[in-house]
Amino acid sequence: MNLPDICHNAVKLAEQSARFLRQELGNVRTDQIEEKALNSLVSYVDKATEAQLVAGLRSITPGCSFLTEEDTVENTEGSLRWIVDPLDGTTNFLFQLPVFSISLALEREGEIVLGIVYEVNQQEAFYAWKDSGAYLNGKPIRVSKRPTLPQSLLATGFPYYNYDQTQAYLKALQFFMQHTRGIRRFGSAAVDLAYVACGRFDGFFEYSLQPYDVAGGAFIVQEAGGVVTDFRGGTDWLHGGEMLASNALIAEDFLEVVRSAFKS
Ligand code: IPD
Ligand code: CA
Ligand code: CA
Repeated sequence: MNLPDICHNAVKLAEQSARFLRQELGNVRTDQIEEKALNSLVSYVDKATEAQLVAGLRSITPGCSFLTEEDTVENTEGSLRWIVDPLDGTTNFLFQLPVFSISLALEREGEIVLGIVYEVNQQEAFYAWKDSGAYLNGKPIRVSKRPTLPQSLLATGFPYYNYDQTQAYLKALQFFMQHTRGIRRFGSAAVDLAYVACGRFDGFFEYSLQPYDVAGGAFIVQEAGGVVTDFRGGTDWLHGGEMLASNALIAEDFLEVVRSAFKS
């Protein structure tokens, strides 16, 4: 299997779907928006984009299976499986805020071997395949070298439908407010991770994440030299819902704050 070719073809596919997303920005009527669950919005745009991506990925890797957000295809296991979020940042898209992305990852025998995050409005393709290092529009990228939390700029996602751990989350947030350069909430976890990979952000944390939010971006962070864990420092970040990602220099201190906030 030629991962570089698969990656370049999938980036081209993401570029095409990104054109469709830009074209539809501002076209969605209120009566075309559905609330799948509390504060979880979707429109024909998410579904049509997913269908385009699935069709394109099928021709790149015939016989592959899928895990996708919008269920336009049956979600199954398989030796080769694409994990697809056709529009990460749907709320931003529907409110015409410019930060949203397409997130793709390829699993081989359960291991992620390729990741792509395409930032739609900046037209930035972040990607990596196994042992390739990470790239942004063809140029190699690395995580930042900022060595301490007080020098770091962090990204997060605020809880907006699962409030079970709000107190612990706020405890960590308060610490970071007082001990970092600042915190951003852009509204696309995939973009947050891509920005950690290229060193714009030093770290990212969030809970209640789904595999399709993070699979592509977290893999790119790892290939860019960063560290990705769950809130206990373990490896259950893909299906466990909780994720920390950062450069390796702040990883230990970053984890310690989150771990102690969430253990109480
Ligand atoms: C969401 C975005 C958001 C994050 C949420 C995700 P969606 O994905 O990534 O930044 O805070 O956890 O669910 O619903 O826009 O695809
Ligand atoms: Ca998402
Ligand atoms: Ca989505």
